[in-house]
Amino acid sequence: MCGIVGYIGDKEAFPILINGLKRLEYRGYDSAGVALLNGETYLYKRKGKVSDLEEFIGTKSVLGNIGMGHTRWATHGEPNDINAHPHASFHNKFIVIHNGIIENYSRLKEKLIHRGYEFKSETDTEVLANLIEFIYMKGDITAEMAVRLALSKVVGAYGLVVMCKDEPDKLIAARKGSPLVIGIGQGEYFLASDATPIVEYTKSVIYMNDNDVAVISKNELLLKTVDNEALTPNIQELSLDIGEIDKGGYDHFMLKEIYEQPRAIADTFRGRINAEHTNIHLGGLHAVWPNLEKARRIIIVACGTSWHAGLVGEYLFEEFARVPVEVEYSSEFRYRKPIIYADDIVIAISQSGETADTLAAIKIAKEAGAMVLGICNVVGSSIPRETDAGVYTHAGPEIGVASTKAFTAQVTVLTMMALKLAHRKYQISLDQYHHLINELTLIPDKIEKGLLANNHIKKIAELYKDSTNAIYLGRGFLFPVALEGALKLKEISYIHAEGYPAAEMKHGPIALIDKNMPVVVVATKDSSYEKIVSNIQEVKARNGVVIAVVTEGDDTIRKMADHVIEVPETPEHLAPLMSVIPLQLLSYHIAVMRGCNVDQPRNLAKSVTVE
Ligand code: AGP
Repeated sequence: MCGIVGYIGDKEAFPILINGLKRLEYRGYDSAGVALLNGETYLYKRKGKVSDLEEFIGTKSVLGNIGMGHTRWATHGEPNDINAHPHASFHNKFIVIHNGIIENYSRLKEKLIHRGYEFKSETDTEVLANLIEFIYMKGDITAEMAVRLALSKVVGAYGLVVMCKDEPDKLIAARKGSPLVIGIGQGEYFLASDATPIVEYTKSVIYMNDNDVAVISKNELLLKTVDNEALTPNIQELSLDIGEIDKGGYDHFMLKEIYEQPRAIADTFRGRINAEHTNIHLGGLHAVWPNLEKARRIIIVACGTSWHAGLVGEYLFEEFARVPVEVEYSSEFRYRKPIIYADDIVIAISQSGETADTLAAIKIAKEAGAMVLGICNVVGSSIPRETDAGVYTHAGPEIGVASTKAFTAQVTVLTMMALKLAHRKYQISLDQYHHLINELTLIPDKIEKGLLANNHIKKIAELYKDSTNAIYLGRGFLFPVALEGALKLKEISYIHAEGYPAAEMKHGPIALIDKNMPVVVVATKDSSYEKIVSNIQEVKARNGVVIAVVTEGDDTIRKMADHVIEVPETPEHLAPLMSVIPLQLLSYHIAVMRGCNVDQPRNLAKSVTVE
């Protein structure tokens, strides 16, 4: 989604802004722009990539020690040069960049038009810029007061940075529902929608809270509420490292992140599993285990890949802890008047911690009196702050839009939670508890081994790169993996793909089977192995093409399938962690071979901060 970067200090702002915009590219965007204040206002914006913006700017003036930059992911108005941010107000006094949505923008726009304002773009942001200016010009007030007064009139979400030509030594920032981080340097400040543009300059940061307004000059930061109450900034140390947001020699972030999974999983259980592999300790849940033990039901809310991880969680919690689980798309849950009991536990799963629908689902659950737990990857993001307790995945920054290591880290956390809850409820034998903990610690090495199949998978990708459709099948714990494999293929290669429980094939999708459509079957050895072998036979009997992910040494499926990809043996409860890896690689190679932008697929955003 949209990205924000801002700078004020003694350095030239432009290189910092452009560099920051490049760091933000992973979020997904369709246009970019910068504005600088240097006596005059310099404003450049362009549809397309940051490189298109740089080309457009060429040798034009980019001097100035204060400025802002933005990557836009279109909501109101198509992606074009005019709708791109920053937006200048009608009388050119204010320049604004904005993430989020101003819901009452059309009513505000009408009022401003009545008062003689003209608009160039179709955006809600230009309305905000003009509203601030209108209020500012009407009364004898400062730019900051105008911003606060304007914000009191808007309904919606915003992460906002404002510059005023009359006060050229200030950046004004405000947050409600859309994240903003302030970086503190020596005589300089940085602003960004996440920490990635900041980390190479400073590790001291302030995460703005909802309804915060920051007035920033190069030597001073004033933090207050939108109602003008002074606040004490909570300065925190960034744990993010610059090396973590580089490609590290890989062609794409996605490939790097696939290969990082052994490390991401190990980091996620490190310090949480004891040295003897006999117990699990999740510090973030310490105070809430009694609530989990008493829970009438667990409701998992999430979107996309995180929702698939939630489905694995359902199987784990129900099998081990014997507690009923419902897995809900956050976007449906928030609007369908769900029944939530005060003794339900809601678990929100999110890589980014900023997904708007999941945040809304949390709000509804809290209003109903349920306890809400979070499983998130981005430290300091909104979901960990909105939930009662939770567990961080330690996957490290995930830059590729297609989620890979976040999924396996989420499943790792869910596995630990389910096993620990089962243990506390005496629902699992000590032997099985210890056995599965030990097996979980073996997963990183097994994934390393599984990754050796990369070249073999690449050859299979070459054969199917021109397919137009694909079906992914799995049963039990491997059904969510089939869904995830299909999502990976469609989002980065634009090949239509569907995931199904293998037995459901007979109820419709079997009609699609022909020699042109690959059927990817996740068929490692588990309790429904015989059944999935039958499903493969059913596909082959109809001249289907089968690519099967199997357990090492499986000669039965090897004889039936067109291609097999082997993964090391693991208990079925942990199999999603192993079997998803070849599906990620298959999608990756197919997308690269089709010339797709793997890390920034068309139309997609890394974190979906609008509903
Ligand atoms: C998956 O590859 C996608 N990027 C997407 O489905 C993602 O998982 C979804 O938008 C949820 O994001 P979150 O985990 O940050 O909440």
